[in-house]
Amino acid sequence: MNLKKLSIFSLLIAAITLQGKTHAQTPVINIKATQPVAEIQPTMWGVFFEDINMGADGGIYAELVKNRSFEFQKPLMGWKVERKKAEEGDVIIQNRQGNTANPRFISIKANNTSKGDIGITNEGFKGMGIKKGLRYDFSVLYRHQNGHVKLHLELIDAKGNIIGGTLLTPTSNGHNWKKEAISFNATETEAKGKFRIWFEGNGEIDLDMVSLFPEDTWKKRPGGMRADMIQLLADMKPGFIRFPGGCIVEGIDLANRYQWKKTLGPIEERQLIINRWNVEFAHRPSPDYFQTFGLGFFEYFQLAEDIGAEALPILNCGMACQFNTAEVVPVNELEPYIQDALDLIEFANAEPNTKWGKVRADMGHPAPFDLKFLGIGNENWGPQYVERLKIFTKAIKAKYPHIKLVNSAGTDPSGDRFDYLNKELRAMNADIIDEHYYRTPDWFLKNAGRYDAYDRNGSKIFAGEYAAQSDKTVSVNNRNNWKCALSEAAFMTGLERNAQVVNMASYAPLFAHAEGWQWTPDLIWVDNLRSYGTPNYHVQKLYSTNKGTHVLNTTQHGNPLTGQDELYASGILDKKTNEVILKVANVSDKEQVREVNLEGIKKFDVKAKLIVLKNANPEALNTFENATNVSPVEETIILNPKKKISLILAPNSFTVLRVKLL
Ligand code: AHR
Repeated sequence: MNLKKLSIFSLLIAAITLQGKTHAQTPVINIKATQPVAEIQPTMWGVFFEDINMGADGGIYAELVKNRSFEFQKPLMGWKVERKKAEEGDVIIQNRQGNTANPRFISIKANNTSKGDIGITNEGFKGMGIKKGLRYDFSVLYRHQNGHVKLHLELIDAKGNIIGGTLLTPTSNGHNWKKEAISFNATETEAKGKFRIWFEGNGEIDLDMVSLFPEDTWKKRPGGMRADMIQLLADMKPGFIRFPGGCIVEGIDLANRYQWKKTLGPIEERQLIINRWNVEFAHRPSPDYFQTFGLGFFEYFQLAEDIGAEALPILNCGMACQFNTAEVVPVNELEPYIQDALDLIEFANAEPNTKWGKVRADMGHPAPFDLKFLGIGNENWGPQYVERLKIFTKAIKAKYPHIKLVNSAGTDPSGDRFDYLNKELRAMNADIIDEHYYRTPDWFLKNAGRYDAYDRNGSKIFAGEYAAQSDKTVSVNNRNNWKCALSEAAFMTGLERNAQVVNMASYAPLFAHAEGWQWTPDLIWVDNLRSYGTPNYHVQKLYSTNKGTHVLNTTQHGNPLTGQDELYASGILDKKTNEVILKVANVSDKEQVREVNLEGIKKFDVKAKLIVLKNANPEALNTFENATNVSPVEETIILNPKKKISLILAPNSFTVLRVKLL
């Protein structure tokens, strides 16, 4: 045998040996498929909604007119007065005394004017997204002081061209407020549209609640929500929706707290307040950010019902944001706050023959909403919180023992404040403890086993706000990159494995407008016409649409996969579809192979579903231009019924495997 022959021969032997060795040594992920260890709550994966980053006004609330009721601190903010010839007193803001919810309105004096002489233009929320061919519904409250004035309505594009409009001839000359509505179609698509009203005639007209909605709202509801944004939520099939926040529950001070009762009834009677995110970050000033409450608690409950999610309202506990004024209500004056909580349950669940059940019924929903969860306080901490929480809990449980109360574990998942609250809340036998973590991707990886040692019989956990930060919390440099999303996917295997303890989880914040955000990262980004899910969105959606009903013991070499070889895994059973669902995050830059053993299973469908979310580049992002850059690819794979399932895990990937049992 010459040397060349020898080396080829030895290479061959080595290859055969290696092949055999590789096969023999492929680690096995073992799933005890016939022995469910715990139930997964239907609420497990949900969404957290807050009016931050133009989430409500300028976001899901489809109103196009900003400052429609002239109630912003600067009453003409968002409006521009257009005049050929200025005349003293031709446009004034009036404040009617006695109307505390909506005191201001605008008065226009038309002195034999024609179209183009005097008008007002609204800039929308960073412009208005206008779609060619779509119907736009205008409405206004008006009254004449004298004479008669017609309204020329115009949509205009960024260059000032008219792209739709109509003439509204008010039907009344009277002095009483009247609502008038008219619709017209847009002739072009424009992301930066504006809306203008020219006043023609001879007389004086007062206007309030100047409103413009697109026809294509969610479920085509007049005055409703932006359909593309809500569809992204509906597609997630969330188990719950938490609302209205977040820090806006607390307010900068108590006067600025969220008060649900003020968000009901006719929209012109809902008193707006400054949005706390207006002034929160000096580096992201948002002087035109207000909460008009066109979107209020009734609409949130309705949204929850629409998308099949449990409603999870959070109420102020008598404490303003402790990062701001930290104002508290004296404990002996908490009664109105507690009454708000009791009334909310009545509003949601009682029959229409009760006071608050009637309010709900009068708004168009006679059937109860079947509220099951209620949060008391958001990110509150310290003995002040515990003291108030105890009073709330006693009063609510006395009247509504079946309502599960969500309690705050503060702002951080560790440290003195957390430890104190954790101890106190557990001593109180809290139903559900709301933990928040805005941390680095590395923290998420290291904490995939966080709940493994949590008490199985104590309080349940709501992972109420979490997001991996590519830079640091509240940094403007945070990005929704694949590395962060993948670390969340890895961490969430730990939530799923511990579903006996963790009953709810939601990423936060949910929405951000590309030009109107204060906080990043966020799950879904929008501009005036477009919206897309981030890689993090796809991770959340993969969990919530592959939820299952029971946890299965899933191990490699006898241990749960919590980072060995940079792999993280959880296995579950869906009793409704009789499928085993395995999720594996491979956070390494290497392809890895695992065999999957469905212990106890004799027969399974050879056709299995494989869904892979991957990108070789940890910095990869989705953008408006490349919205599906990191998005799941689904395929049907054919399994060999006589062998273990071979799973090839791509570098930097999150894989979901669904195998149907026979
Ligand atoms: O999600 C953004 C903010 O983060 C929430 O309003 C608050 O609860 C948390 O601090």
